Amino acid sequence: MSKILVTGGAGFIGSHTAVELISSGFTPIIVDNFCNSRPSVIQRIETITNQNLVSYNLDCTDEIALRQVFNDHPDLQGAIHFAAFKAVGESVQSPLKYYHNNINSLLVLTRLMNEFNVRNLVFSSSCTVYGQPEILPVTEATEMQEAQSPYGFTKQVCERLLSDLSTGEYNQVSSVLLRYFNPIGAHPSGLIGELPLGVPENLIPYITQTAAGLRDSLTVFGQDYSTSDGTCVRDYIHVVDLAKAHVKALRYLAENDKMCKAFNLGTGTGNTVLEVIQTFEKVSGVKLSYAMGERRPGDVEQIYASADKANRELQWKTELSLEDALTDAWNWQLKLEETGTTAD
Ligand code: UD1
Repeated sequence: MSKILVTGGAGFIGSHTAVELISSGFTPIIVDNFCNSRPSVIQRIETITNQNLVSYNLDCTDEIALRQVFNDHPDLQGAIHFAAFKAVGESVQSPLKYYHNNINSLLVLTRLMNEFNVRNLVFSSSCTVYGQPEILPVTEATEMQEAQSPYGFTKQVCERLLSDLSTGEYNQVSSVLLRYFNPIGAHPSGLIGELPLGVPENLIPYITQTAAGLRDSLTVFGQDYSTSDGTCVRDYIHVVDLAKAHVKALRYLAENDKMCKAFNLGTGTGNTVLEVIQTFEKVSGVKLSYAMGERRPGDVEQIYASADKANRELQWKTELSLEDALTDAWNWQLKLEETGTTAD
């Protein structure tokens, strides 16, 4: 059973990936400082998979603490690095927090990987690296534009760092960069999902919390974009589909020479904010309270993926629809209310 270090393994995408790793025969070793997740997620992964997990409560920028994990597990076969801050707006307010955490954690991790001869790394990147592309859908060959936020810039810097490491003579880290479009949904069990602390910044948790009565009304950011109905277009991908791509990426790294390769992970279809709202109303049967508002600074008008390269080379494709994702997100929200999970 291959052991894989999973930093940020209690987070939204990390927890779903841990489940997929276990069901594919890997053993995840989870590291998380629980700054944006809850320790109870670990037990929930154990419930879904019926397996005991090894996990550490530590910060990946703390080299001494992370080194202990490498010492404890000399048989690590690879790493998946999720641990990072991800709120675009917050990164504009607190850039240093983002540069410090997102870049230092990767530096510490790759230094330890080199030292302990762990070669394969899957890096959690984002479509944010493209800025507003001129041609859609976006392929991996699309030239990057200047990052729109410190968050976006940290992803560009980390990608560049990994590219340099893959060619450096004294470095052995081989990486796959997974550029996520908009991950949404939850595990169909309703046991794990997105758990934003405080007021959500992202669309889907805002929708489900509004539908559940926790927020008064959703504001749709902008209605005068050059899109079919004037609202922004995004490529919303079910988190379970996304999680499965990480398993494929690990296998790809194991089968290939040292590299640094990027893959888009999306459905290939763009949906407007209003289409998402209508689909949510259809699957939940709840009429959503929303109002049209101003554009949100920093938002790109439209972006959606070409995932052809991942389809072809990773042998991965999405299987779940927007309806599936919104059904699972709503189920997750209802379970949260039932069990009072928001309070733990
Ligand atoms: C952004 C980043 C993405 C990052 C994600 C996580 C870009 C291009 N994308 O996604 O890399 O992983 O944040 O934080 O930088 N919306 C509303 N009302 C709301 C909330 C959102 O109308 O209350 C709209 C937004 O304007 C946008 C869409 O919903 O058009 C999706 O927004 P959101 O869920 O915040 O994700 P992105 O900003 O696309």
